[in-house]
Amino acid sequence: LSNGLAITPAMGWNSWNHFACNVSEELIKETADALVSTGLSKLGYQYVNIDDCWAEINRDDKGNLVPKKSTFPSGMKALADYIHSKGLKLGIYSDAGYYTCSKKMPGSLGYEEKDAKAFASWGIDYLKYDNCNTDGSKPVERYPVMTHALMKAGRPIYFSLCEWGDMHPALWGGNLGNSWRTTNDISDTWDSMVSRADENEVYAEYARPGGWNDPDMLEVGNGGMTKNEYIVHFSIWAISKAPLLIGCDVNNITKETMEILGNEEVIAVNQDKFGVQAKKVRMLGDLEVWAGPLSDYRVAVLLVNRSTRRDSITAHWEDIGLPLKTVVTVRDLWQHKTLKKKFVGSLTATVDYHASKMYIFTPDRS
Ligand code: GLA
Repeated sequence: LSNGLAITPAMGWNSWNHFACNVSEELIKETADALVSTGLSKLGYQYVNIDDCWAEINRDDKGNLVPKKSTFPSGMKALADYIHSKGLKLGIYSDAGYYTCSKKMPGSLGYEEKDAKAFASWGIDYLKYDNCNTDGSKPVERYPVMTHALMKAGRPIYFSLCEWGDMHPALWGGNLGNSWRTTNDISDTWDSMVSRADENEVYAEYARPGGWNDPDMLEVGNGGMTKNEYIVHFSIWAISKAPLLIGCDVNNITKETMEILGNEEVIAVNQDKFGVQAKKVRMLGDLEVWAGPLSDYRVAVLLVNRSTRRDSITAHWEDIGLPLKTVVTVRDLWQHKTLKKKFVGSLTATVDYHASKMYIFTPDRS
């Protein structure tokens, strides 16, 4: 969508994966404070996004959405002011149906202009728009109504289409929103994570500055996967130019989770100005090579071992889009080391099971 936003994939946090319906203005403020104090905001994590369950079940007598009095007593404008005072941006959630997915608050169907105006007047910067409890009409008919309403609301608001991929939103979302879900909800397990990665990969061609494929939010730090598995998760999301929306409790973040979410070299791949989503360029059973071009002739390469034992994986230049005789300098983005050896034609590395290696290849120009 040409609203000037999401020139690179969005980065931030969302309440759903860790807190589900337990959201409140306290939580949102504490999370904003934590994003700043941990240094994550400086690394680019800017959006603080409230998911489902922030509103009263009934609109007021003028038809306005009402922030839940027990959990958001100060209202959204005050909250947005607080978030903005920290240099961050505030996101909110609604639904292209009568109720949101939790059924605990109304959706925006039939109230698109009213709600978009309210969001803009509160200072909202991001809207995630779900697809539950609809009138049965097609998403491709209901989503544009909100896109138009936002365009008229007088404030640039990132628009996240949450249609879960059933109707292939990659094919029609590019002129309606800044990202579109390509998958059903992620859960905090290896199998869920890699299957989201696969479902998202097939739409790689549709990602571009302004509009990105969204394989759902990050589970890193929620405890259901090993450290190596979370590194695979973060690496695939980064190289796939997915929105990087943290889904853990940032207030109680561990050193290990910080090391993953705070890896500046991996973030830089995600945020590279070239804006091309990587693809799986070779699969040998459970051994995979993912690669995608970066700016300045560089290539991001990810070796993923999905099997249950250690194995070696080879990246071939012909698969990753480099002339066969190109000599490259290899940077290991998790070891934070430039390899002493230069490589030409192929690179083979040993990769632990449920683990990965991520590199940037920089061609020698001499
Ligand atoms: C859907 C979405 C989730 C989350 C919940 C909230 O399942 O896909 O990301 O927003 O609704 O109810």
